[in-house]
Amino acid sequence: MIELTELRKEFAGVTALDGITLSVAEGEIHGIVGRSGAGKSTLIRCLTGLERSTSGSASIDGVDITALSGARLRESRRSIGMVFQHANLLDSRTALENVEHPLQVAGMKRAERRSRALELLDLVGLTDRADNHPAQLSGGQQQRVGIARALASEPKILLCDEPTSALDTQTTGQILGLIASLRDRLGITVLIITHEMSVVREICDAATLLENGAVTQTGSLSAILADPGSPLAKDLVPLPHVPHDPDRFTLEVALAGTPLTTVFDLAARAGAPIASVESGTLETIGGSQVGRLRITCTDLRTRDDLETALRSGGIHVEAAA
Ligand SMILES: Nc1ncnc2c1ncn2[C@@H]1O[C@H](COP(=O)(O)OP(=O)(O)OP(=O)(O)O)[C@@H](O)[C@H]1O
Ligand SMILES: [Mg+2]
Repeated sequence: MIELTELRKEFAGVTALDGITLSVAEGEIHGIVGRSGAGKSTLIRCLTGLERSTSGSASIDGVDITALSGARLRESRRSIGMVFQHANLLDSRTALENVEHPLQVAGMKRAERRSRALELLDLVGLTDRADNHPAQLSGGQQQRVGIARALASEPKILLCDEPTSALDTQTTGQILGLIASLRDRLGITVLIITHEMSVVREICDAATLLENGAVTQTGSLSAILADPGSPLAKDLVPLPHVPHDPDRFTLEVALAGTPLTTVFDLAARAGAPIASVESGTLETIGGSQVGRLRITCTDLRTRDDLETALRSGGIHVEAAA
C-alpha cells in the first residue's frame, strides 16, 4: 500500500531523511518510532507531498507522490487522512461542524455533509457530543473529533503523527483502541508516528525504527520479537537495571515464544542451576509470549556450559550490561 524507496530529504545542510526504504501492507498498523529529530515528521510530510523530497520515491497504491503536482497531488492527498498530536479544531464551530468542515471545503451539499458527519461522529463514539464546542470537550474527545474529521474524505490511509502524546495513559488506551477498531471496520492502513514503545506494543502489526534519518530496523512485530537482541526488541521488552555482583555471573536471556520453565530445565541439565532471576519482564505482544530476564548463577565455572545449553535451546543469551 505504501512503498518508500531510497527517500531522501535535505534541508540547507541538514539531512533529515537519509535514503528511507520501507513498505507498509494494506490494512496494516505500522509504527514509526525514533527519537526527536530522527525524521519522523519529515517522513510523513514527504508522504503527503507537503514537503518535496530531494530524491527517491514515495508511492501509495502504486502512484509515486513525489512525481505529482497540482490537481493530481491534491487528489492523491484525499486518499490520506491526517491526525496530529493536537486536534486543532475550530473553536467557533461545534464538533459536528468541525467534522463537516473538510466536506464543505470539498463542495458537498449541506444535508449530505451533515448526515455524513453524523455517521463519522457515531463511528468515533461521540454522537452525544455533536453540538458541543471544542472547549466543552476533553482532550481525548477532541482527538476523536479530529479522527472523525480525518476520515471525512474516506481515506485509504490514516497517518497519525504522535496522536496520543498529549493524552494520559487511560485516554491513550482508548484512542489506540479506536484506531485499531477503525482499521478492523474500515480496512484502512494506518501509519502511526510515535516515540512511545507502549503504542507499538498495544496496536502495531509492524514497526520501523528510525535513527538519524535512516531505517535501522523494520518488520512485523513477530519478526522483531523473534530477534531478541535487536534494538526494537530490547525497547519493546526492556529490562530494569540491577547492580552488578562480582561473585556471581549474570546473563540476559530473551525469550520469544519459549516458556520460562525451559530456561530452568536447560540450566539444570547443564549443571549450572540458576540461583536467582534478578529482574525481568514477560508479556504477550502480538499474540506470543516474549520476555527478557536477567538470571544469576553462583558458580563462575559453569558459565560457558550454561550459555551453550541455552543457545542450543533457541534462547537468545548475552552478557548482562
Ligand atoms: N523545515 C526545516 N528546515 C530545516 N531543517 C528541518 C526542517 N524540518 C525538519 N528539519 C530537521 O530535520 C530533522 C528531522 O526533523 P523531524 O521534525 O522530521 O523529526 P521528528 O523525528 O519528527 O522529531 P520529533 O520527535 O521532535 O517530532 C531535524 O534535524 C530537524 O531539525
Ligand atoms: Mg515530529
